[in-house]
Parts: sequence; structure tokens; C-alpha cells
Amino acid sequence: MGRLTGKTAYITGGASGIGRSAAQLFAREGARLCVLDLSEDAGNVLVADIRRNGGDAVFAVADITSEDSVTAAFEKGHGAVGSTDILLNCAGGSSVRDGSIVDAPIEELWRVMQLDVLGTILACRAVIPAMVEKGGGSIVNMSSSVTMASVPGIDFYTAAKGAVSSLTRTLAAQHAASRIRVNALAPGVTMTERVLQISGGDVSRFPLSQKQRLGPALPEQVAAAALFLASDDAAMVTGVILPVDGGASSW
Ligand SMILES: NC(=O)c1ccc[n+]([C@@H]2O[C@H](COP(=O)([O-])OP(=O)(O)OC[C@H]3O[C@@H](n4cnc5c(N)ncnc54)[C@H](O)[C@@H]3O)[C@@H](O)[C@H]2O)c1
Repeated sequence: MGRLTGKTAYITGGASGIGRSAAQLFAREGARLCVLDLSEDAGNVLVADIRRNGGDAVFAVADITSEDSVTAAFEKGHGAVGSTDILLNCAGGSSVRDGSIVDAPIEELWRVMQLDVLGTILACRAVIPAMVEKGGGSIVNMSSSVTMASVPGIDFYTAAKGAVSSLTRTLAAQHAASRIRVNALAPGVTMTERVLQISGGDVSRFPLSQKQRLGPALPEQVAAAALFLASDDAAMVTGVILPVDGGASSW
């Protein structure tokens, strides 16, 4: 029996990077899966691959920044795999347009606030009422180690992930009585295709990476931490922002 057998998991931004690794791991651990992503092609390829390996997964196209799109995607998922036991919010990410608040373009602030903050809020809104009704659930949000390790130069992203961390703690407190656990991961630099591309193939040039004494993370290592928080192994864990950053925020 897998660690998620009998559970239904929804993963936003599940078509690539950390979300894709988590989708593959959650499926191996027995979850019924709904992968939500803007990228239809990558999502369908992933779901076909999971099914070929004996997993149970569907793909629902979703723009996580649009309430109508999120509602439609969760409805599709409910019809196919059932209502949510686990929500992993992976859709998000910084971009090269970020920088110092003194000169980074304000449009980048709105982009990252919409994707990382509004997107997380809309997905949580879509699942919490059903989780209350079914007597519990586990939400895993995606913050970042930059909120803890004082890293300069990605100020809008840092502000957005700080909001995700704060939201995580307040939702955990508000919904504990309904047995809904809400936690977040705070990964350090993780070698996803997007990050390798932004770094020009050399993640060591990122200031955060230089603080990671265990080196940069692999997507699979962050997915393993997501599995722990999502599963009943973490039954007594809520309101936690868990660094997965090779020690970057610890010293
Ligand atoms: N990779 C890192 O170094 C790192 C470090 C700390 C935190 N994080 C966080 O982890 C999460 C995943 O990062 P990643 O590197 O795996 O990213 P990624 O770019 O590989 O994956 C993000 C996924 O989100 C999807 N997406 C983008 N916009 C969307 C939208 N509007 N609606 C729905 N889906 C959308 C993309 O299509 C993609 O599949 C992000 O929240 C990121 O901020 C990543």
C-alpha cells in the first residue's frame, strides 16, 4: 500500500518542474491525481506517462490566475477522480524581470502577485469548502527559502512568497478544527528546467545557491518533502514553513 492510497490529490503547475516530480511520486504512492496547468501539451504527456505506469491521473487545463478557469478545472477533476484530499500548489515562479524594488518593472510585481499569491488563494478557495464537508484534508503551498535567507535581487518574488507563507499560517490556524492541515515548502534553488534556463545552466551564480551547503536541490528532493507534508505521516504537522534548501536559511 502506498502512502497516498485512497487519497485524491490536485497539483497546480503539475506539468513541469517540482509539480511534475510530485505528480509522478504521488501517483507511485497510490494517489488518484488531477494535474492542473496552463500547459496542455506537457500536462497531457505527463498524465499519459503516469497511466502507462499504472497510475490514475487526469489533466485539467487551468489558468490559476482566473477564478472561472480554476473553478472549471476543479469541477472537471471532481467528476473524474473525486473531491480533494490533498492540494499541492506548485504554479508560480520568479522571472528574470525581477530585481530590486528600486528599478524592477512594476508589471513584474503584478505578474508574480497574480501567479503566486492570487493563484494560491484561488486554488485554496476551490478546495476548502469540500475539505470541510469531508472532514479534513492537506494543503501544501509553495513558498521559497528566499523569504528566510535574506537574498537580495528578487524583491517582488520574495514579497509574493512572504504572502504565501503568511497565508499558510493563518489558514492552518483557521481550519485546524476542520482537520485541514496547511503547510508550505520553502525550497532553495532547485534545478528545474525553468531555473536552469534562467541561470544559463549555472545555478551557482544565484546568491541563494551559494548559501546552500548541500548544493542545489533536485525537483525529486522537493517532491519528497511535499509527499511527507501531504501524507498522514505529517498528521500532527500544520502551519509549518519547511525549508528544503540545503541549510541556506539555517545559518
Ligand atoms: N525551482 C526553484 O528553484 C524554486 C525554488 C523555490 C520555490 N520554487 C517554487 O516552486 C514552484 C514550482 O517551481 P518550478 O521551478 O518547478 O517551476 P516550473 O516553471 O518548472 O513549473 C511551474 C508550472 O506552472 C505552470 N504555470 C505557470 N503559469 C500558470 C498559470 N497561470 N496557471 C496554471 N499553471 C501555470 C507552468 O506551465 C509550469 O508547468 C513555484 O511556485 C516556485 O516559485 C521553485
